[in-house]
Amino acid sequence: MCGIVGFTGNRQAAPVLLDGLSKLEYRGYDSAGIAVRDGESKTEIIKEKGKLKVLAEMTDYGKAVKGTCGIGHTRWATHGEPSAVNAHPHSSDDGNVIAVHNGIIENFQEQREKLIKKGYVFHSQTDTEVAVKMIDYYYKKYSQQPIEAIARAMVRIRGSYALCVMFKDFPGEIYCARKDSPMIIGIADGESYVASDVPAILKYTRNVYYIGNMEIAKLEKGNVTFYNIDSEVLEKQLTEIKWDAESAEKGGYEHFMLKEIHEQPKVIRDTINSVVTDGKVHFDSVNLTDEEMQQIGLIYIVACGSAYHVGMDLQYVIESLTSLQVRVELASEFRYRKMTLNKKSLVIVISQSGETADTLAALREAKEQGIKTLGIVNVVGSSIAREADNVFYTLAGPEISVATTKAYSTQLVAGYLLALQFAKARGEIEETKYNELLEAIYSIPDKVERILEDKERLQWFSAKLINVGDAFFIGRGIDYAIGMEGSLKLKEISYIHSEAYAAGELKHGPISLIENGTIVISIVTQNGLIEKTVSNMVEVKSRGAKVMAVTETGNYFLEDTAEFVCYVPRIEPLFAGSLSVIPLQLLSYYVSIGKGFDVDKPRNLAKSVTVE
Ligand code: F6R
Repeated sequence: MCGIVGFTGNRQAAPVLLDGLSKLEYRGYDSAGIAVRDGESKTEIIKEKGKLKVLAEMTDYGKAVKGTCGIGHTRWATHGEPSAVNAHPHSSDDGNVIAVHNGIIENFQEQREKLIKKGYVFHSQTDTEVAVKMIDYYYKKYSQQPIEAIARAMVRIRGSYALCVMFKDFPGEIYCARKDSPMIIGIADGESYVASDVPAILKYTRNVYYIGNMEIAKLEKGNVTFYNIDSEVLEKQLTEIKWDAESAEKGGYEHFMLKEIHEQPKVIRDTINSVVTDGKVHFDSVNLTDEEMQQIGLIYIVACGSAYHVGMDLQYVIESLTSLQVRVELASEFRYRKMTLNKKSLVIVISQSGETADTLAALREAKEQGIKTLGIVNVVGSSIAREADNVFYTLAGPEISVATTKAYSTQLVAGYLLALQFAKARGEIEETKYNELLEAIYSIPDKVERILEDKERLQWFSAKLINVGDAFFIGRGIDYAIGMEGSLKLKEISYIHSEAYAAGELKHGPISLIENGTIVISIVTQNGLIEKTVSNMVEVKSRGAKVMAVTETGNYFLEDTAEFVCYVPRIEPLFAGSLSVIPLQLLSYYVSIGKGFDVDKPRNLAKSVTVE
């Protein structure tokens, strides 16, 4: 989704804006622009279709643009094609109001028509230009005060927005407004920053404010004032970001995805250690009491994409350790399904960014129905983290690559710990079993490390996938859930069509797709289901499929059926997903780079999906 950066201080703004925008490239974009204010009067707007490099070259990497206050934007087209005209910043015709925007203004047509009747002319097809001209209209019609003009526009805008606005009459100031789109404000000595995400400003400051929904902020050099929609001043706490700047850089790896895959042992360990001390899980930070866990009868896990796949895996884990029933729901479906939620339930929303629009809406729906909510979230201070009743923070650190790896793994392990704690609080697990399972969770980071040490074999196998058109992932139980994630990873970064099927479903239709040379990747880790999956592998092989298997060390008999077998260390079967997913991440990575694709920024995708 679009990225926003703003800066006001005493140094040249354009290089700071371009640098910040480059840290937001992972969000996906098709055009970029900056507006920089030089003193009292002159504001220069430079925008172009294409990569940031184009903008950097046009401005001598920002050095050619004078001025110490500015806003910048990377645009991911929603209303109107990617073009220089549609790129942000947008301006009122007299340059009174200049703004960048992330989000979608749903009633922009209606507002546009009203403004046309008042004499406004539109040059772009964007909803942002409508917001700019609405603010300009209210500014001129009423008191000529930025906060009031923005507030008047905000109450009339339907949709989501993170807006950064500069007013001609207020040099050196940036005004920000937010509803349901991410935005943070950073502060340093004599400097103020605004950005869609932390990595954009981490190099300059770690001190941030979170601007709430329907709030406005005024940025001056080194000073920020917050207002509510009634223009009343709000007090805010400054938060220190713990992530270091290095964790948002590639650190010697060729791509963020590879770096993040390799960070998994550490971040899984950090996430475990955040709640486990003295051999016990402590949920004080999560704020969920034993009594609450005893009273719950049903858990809804609601999420999108890979986070949904985490939920699919956790369903098996929670149901096998406790008497709880689990329903896993796609947030985009859950939010619109008119259903009465079980009063004795807990809604767990899982989200790396904490800003996914559908997941956030699902959370709000649950809260509206009076249901207790728990967020498993990575980004501290994100909307979901702030709105959920309880939060379990995964400690994955900044995830830059669009395709998630380390956040997925930490979400999974957070879910294991949650399942274990539910079982304990409800008296459904014996002490020895509890200790055994906790020990198994503790062993995950080292075992992931071992898988990563043996990645060359996967690299070799990946070459066989480069020219295939279709791939199928099969498995049963947890292996099916992991197949879903493996399939998504492969398709999103290598653009190979792939599907995941519960192996037992093959005969009910999908097997007709198997022909000579079709790739079938089978995940085989679940005791009691292995023989059944092997017979499915035999079925597809006899119809010409090339079969690969991911299984545990010792299952050498799979080599009779599969052309290539990847072994992962043995672990308690309930937690096997945390290991078997690693080769699938690596495989997708190697296929993507083998095909010459931009693995960190796959086409058409954005890192956090903040609009529907
Ligand atoms: C796939 C991927 C996405 C996200 C999904 C949810 O690799 O990263 O499917 O998992 O968009 O995002 P979050 O976790 O930020 O809510």
